[in-house]
Amino acid sequence: MKNFIYDIPTKLYFGRDQIEKLPDLINRFGKKVLLTYGGGSIKKNGLYDKVKDLLKNCEIFELSGIEPNPRIESVRKGAELCKEHQIDVILAVGGGSTIDASKMIAAAAKYDGDAWDLVKNRDLIKDVLPLIDILTLSATGTEMNTSSVITNFKTKEKIGTSAYSLYPYASICDPTYTFSVNPYQTAAGTADIMSHTFEIYFSHEEEVFIQDRLAEGILSACIHYLPIALEDPHNYDARANLMWASTLALNGLTSFGKGGPWTCHPIEHVLSAYYDITHAVGLAILTPRWMDFAVNEKTVERFAMYAENVWGIPKGDDLFASARLAIDKTYQFFLDVGLPMTLGEVGIETDEYFEEMAMQAAPRLENSYVPLTKDDVVNILYACRQPRKMSTSL
Ligand code: NZQ
Ligand code: ZN
Repeated sequence: MKNFIYDIPTKLYFGRDQIEKLPDLINRFGKKVLLTYGGGSIKKNGLYDKVKDLLKNCEIFELSGIEPNPRIESVRKGAELCKEHQIDVILAVGGGSTIDASKMIAAAAKYDGDAWDLVKNRDLIKDVLPLIDILTLSATGTEMNTSSVITNFKTKEKIGTSAYSLYPYASICDPTYTFSVNPYQTAAGTADIMSHTFEIYFSHEEEVFIQDRLAEGILSACIHYLPIALEDPHNYDARANLMWASTLALNGLTSFGKGGPWTCHPIEHVLSAYYDITHAVGLAILTPRWMDFAVNEKTVERFAMYAENVWGIPKGDDLFASARLAIDKTYQFFLDVGLPMTLGEVGIETDEYFEEMAMQAAPRLENSYVPLTKDDVVNILYACRQPRKMSTSL
């Protein structure tokens, strides 16, 4: 196991009614608050009114309309508001997009140049405004990590940046706020949680027993609770388990002591930058095709471990058979929960940009679990155009 420092400063308030702590948390920093949110879901589910009511003693400025795949223009707007009104604290209420944009707003508010500089060069992120968030969608793990993913559609770049100072000061995670998430976003969010777990689980670091069992636990929770949440959106236990899975999948718990470059995320970020697709749907489409590509003599043991510990497929003599069955099950799971599973279904009808996108992704994949060349990425993208052929009869 590699060396690591366990240092997660975010205070996480998990469970029903934790929002009551909000006034106290905000007051630690001052009265001038920038409230950030997305396209209006928080107005429909009553959270906006609740926040305004709890913070009636504060002076609240608002930045609404933060887009899924949040854009650098929103970050710039938010930073301007912070500077203009000398904001004390940012309160982000929403999913990963709102929280990610708010992290960069917090940094850009204390930076004299253009916000995009900070996305391109994390070393420029120094001082930041304090950030508190109320999470409304279980997916990204941003509520307890240092990352922010911002898109610049003008340059066709979607870049994840990270800095210790981007950890939120506090995150309020009340699963009841996810009751209103529709089936599509619920399934997509869970695919994102699973993808984070896969990216970390499939590594060459051996004897990381604890991290591996934690990862398998997170995957099993997703597989168990997603269908329940889809069937019964107000099921508290299902929503709570998915929310906690979202946090644990990407707060370092499964990656401390191991790690290495990811694979499906760099490819998906390029797809999103070119086509503005839902992040997690891109991942669901890519993952089984990547798995097909990644199974080989060196990796099959780990795939068979995934098969056994997550899908209950007994490890027989033929490890490749176990691996193939596990990949089939992964693909079928995403299909069963209603996710689009081909590029055409998300509006990527042609191969026009395959070479260009693969060229952009490939340099980040040279040292991945199974290194990928530009041509490998192109081949994976072609595989994503057709429904995947099952290799077993399930
Ligand atoms: O904008 P509103 O109206 O709020 O609607 C949103 C949006 O349309 C809706 N939604 C959120 N909470 C809801 C709700 N609808 C009803 N009820 C609720 N309670 O869901 C839609 C998607 O929201 P978004 O925030 O975009 O989703 P998600 O949380 O999946 O975030 C995706 C972004 O995070 C990045 C992705 O690349 C993408 O840009 N990621 C961030 C990571 C990180 N910071 O660590 C890691 C991830 O791998 C990922 O890259
Ligand atoms: Zn992700």
